[in-house]
Amino acid sequence: MEILTVFSRKGLHIKCTPVVPAVRFNYNTLAERVAGRGDFMNELALIHKQAKERLKGICRVCPVCNGLSCVSGVPGMGGKTHDRQGMKRNRAALEQYLLNLRTIHEVNFADTSYELFGVQLRSPIMVAPMCETTYNFLNRVDDYDFIVSQVEGAEKAGTLAFTGDSPEPLLYEMSLKASLDKATGKGIPIIKPRKKNDIIERVRLAEKYGSLAVGVDIDAAGFDSFAKAGQPVGPLSFSSLRDIINDTHLPFILKGIMTVEEAVEAVNCGAAGLVVSNHGGRVLDSTPGTSEVLPEIVSAVKGAIKIFVDGGIRTGEDVLKMLALGAEAVLIGRPVAIAAIGGGADGVSLQLSTLESDLRRAMLLTGCKSLETVGPFVIREALF
Ligand SMILES: Cc1cc2nc3c(=O)[nH]c(=O)nc-3n(C[C@H](O)[C@H](O)[C@H](O)COP(=O)(O)O)c2cc1C
Repeated sequence: MEILTVFSRKGLHIKCTPVVPAVRFNYNTLAERVAGRGDFMNELALIHKQAKERLKGICRVCPVCNGLSCVSGVPGMGGKTHDRQGMKRNRAALEQYLLNLRTIHEVNFADTSYELFGVQLRSPIMVAPMCETTYNFLNRVDDYDFIVSQVEGAEKAGTLAFTGDSPEPLLYEMSLKASLDKATGKGIPIIKPRKKNDIIERVRLAEKYGSLAVGVDIDAAGFDSFAKAGQPVGPLSFSSLRDIINDTHLPFILKGIMTVEEAVEAVNCGAAGLVVSNHGGRVLDSTPGTSEVLPEIVSAVKGAIKIFVDGGIRTGEDVLKMLALGAEAVLIGRPVAIAAIGGGADGVSLQLSTLESDLRRAMLLTGCKSLETVGPFVIREALF
């Protein structure tokens, strides 16, 4: 066998056999590499590097996005105020849960497939609504490209994207159109808590574009950017919500539920789903982490309404923890935004597919055959 002489870091000569090049598939695009299970981590690292350059001064693209060293808040990628308690607690609370490794069982394949409102998805991992690149990313990324990357990337990964609302008048409709064009309408627009008639007007648009469902991020009630643009947002009364929900055939989702009382209100006003969310810690500081409040909300309303959750979910293991705590599906925010900025639709698809395959492996190693079989037995609380 041929022996090569190479330099080590310290300049010493070392004799070794040549490294046999790994078999490389001739993928044309990043998406094809994903489909062929290429080198996930290297591709993601590349995407993160690119995002880091594009987001200089806005986001450090940390190895784990946990709010500990953000360079921006809101606007930007971080959490509200310099302390970012809400954002940090999302991560810290999830880290308090550990997974029970179980490998004496007969589960050989874990099925992550999930059905939402009659649509079959590859996993219960969806894209959280995110927009306003002018406001949040100093216009370094085009708003339409950002939305299309999320919608198209989710579709390529066999799942779907929630989309956002903005004071920019065309943006909301742009996201509806993107969902229709790139994902046959398989998107869920989330409208800001505007005046009742303004919400109803946007619900009509969602119906027109064939959206799968529609909703309101009720926790965005204090957003200054909307007030400054002459489009006030604010808390919505129970009767307004009930009127809005009764006025559409689309399943309605309330995003931003953090208490049992409001979860019960969501059920009573006819919502089909709720998202346990503190908006990624971007609306009110010092809120609990979402996994802190999820169990009590689950025990109060599970079965009466679909329960989704977001906030600090970074790995497939995190997804499994949220499912074990009783959520039906999860939404991913910042990691998807970073993937969209660094790698467009292919980047988003890769990020979501990586989460899905990590979830599948975590389910296998905890003895869960399907999403229905995930339960509290999967997790335990950390002793330290
Ligand atoms: C840059 C950015 C923009 C966002 N825009 C919206 C929005 O338009 N509507 C909305 O409901 N939530 C919005 N969110 C909140 C997310 O939907 C989600 O609740 C949160 O990011 C989840 O936490 P994570 O980022 O830790 O995964 C935004 C979040 C970020 C980071």
